[in-house]
Amino acid sequence: MPLPSAEPIGLPAPAWLLQALLVLTFSLHLIPMTLTVGGTLMALYSEVAARLSADGSGYRQLAQRLWRLLPTITAFTITLGVAPLLFIQLVYGKFFYPASVLTAWSWLGVVPLLLVGYGMLYAQSMGNQAARWRPWAGLAAALSFLGVLAIYVSTMSLTTQPGVWRDMYAASQGGTHWHFELPRALHVLCGAVAMAGGLAAVIGHGAPEAKFGRLARRFGLAWAAAGVILQIPAGLWFYNTLPSRDGLLLPLVIAAGGLGLVGLLAFLLAGVKERRPSMAWMGLFGLTLGAVALAVQRHLVRQAALSPNITAADWKLSPQWDVFGIFAVLLVLTIGLIGYLFVRFLRAPAQAERKRTDAHQMRVG
Ligand code: HEM
Repeated sequence: MPLPSAEPIGLPAPAWLLQALLVLTFSLHLIPMTLTVGGTLMALYSEVAARLSADGSGYRQLAQRLWRLLPTITAFTITLGVAPLLFIQLVYGKFFYPASVLTAWSWLGVVPLLLVGYGMLYAQSMGNQAARWRPWAGLAAALSFLGVLAIYVSTMSLTTQPGVWRDMYAASQGGTHWHFELPRALHVLCGAVAMAGGLAAVIGHGAPEAKFGRLARRFGLAWAAAGVILQIPAGLWFYNTLPSRDGLLLPLVIAAGGLGLVGLLAFLLAGVKERRPSMAWMGLFGLTLGAVALAVQRHLVRQAALSPNITAADWKLSPQWDVFGIFAVLLVLTIGLIGYLFVRFLRAPAQAERKRTDAHQMRVG
């Protein structure tokens, strides 16, 4: 028996357009999401290293810089998750709803985990830098975000496997199922480590303080290298678990890997001794493009897995171009605004530093 359609009114725009927007908006979510997860892990590591090493001032400064950036990055993660959530319900609703019902309790757990993680980040960004609770608050934030990551992997991977739902539902109707896939999670986690490394490298290449800058550049390069290199076995493991490996899949995987390596090469060329901010930005851009290639790959895998269960009735068109037009205009404006805010946000620390130096010079003068 075919699965019933979840959208009786029909799609407001052609399925291909909604799919393209799903991939676009998911890519926009993926960038801050990897920075949230990887950045929190890196800030926690730096927070602990600052306490354990003899001269922990560099690590303390890095932790401070990251804790200060993370609430804003996480706000981007959360708000940029809304659009793909709407598109996935529209295009793949009949697969997504059963998967979220089967995993209901863990799925509902996303909200409290986000509240804890976000709250801990805010706590970190203010108050006494040497307070003893800091590493514990950092650990709570990291565990919360890793929990959210695991829940998303569980529910989203179950979305693509309607074949297993019947047995799961027969076994229990309590919404307590869990469909975590380790290779899929490691794939995201390695990307998160690499992106956090890229962020630290960018911070280091832009930092006016020589000692701290060198430490952030070295540390960032090490994390970026670890993330990209570990992604090779993790990515191959994930690739081997995929039910379908046809068409564009292999070229996209190669492209993603190649872009990751290009990003890493840019960080290597940027070096750790000198400040080369534009090269470091190119590295982060390479990693970001690699992540976007993986978002496309992920979509193709889902489409290939679900297409036997998609009927013409599911994607019946019932156009609402007026509403869609308003959405398109707002989307373009939003992307422009996010780009503008992002640039302002990244320039803010350097501008604040310059203002402090100018004020100091005026006082001395
Ligand atoms: C720190 C918070 C978050 C983390 C760590 C996170 C992590 C993830 C991960 C790992 C995936 C990929 C899952 C997979 O397919 O294996 C994902 C996908 C997704 N996330 Fe997030 N997420 C976060 C917040 C959110 C929020 C708040 C929303 C919605 C408001 C959201 C919406 C989505 C959607 C819709 C997808 C799937 C898109 C698609 O399949 O095309 N996320 N997220």
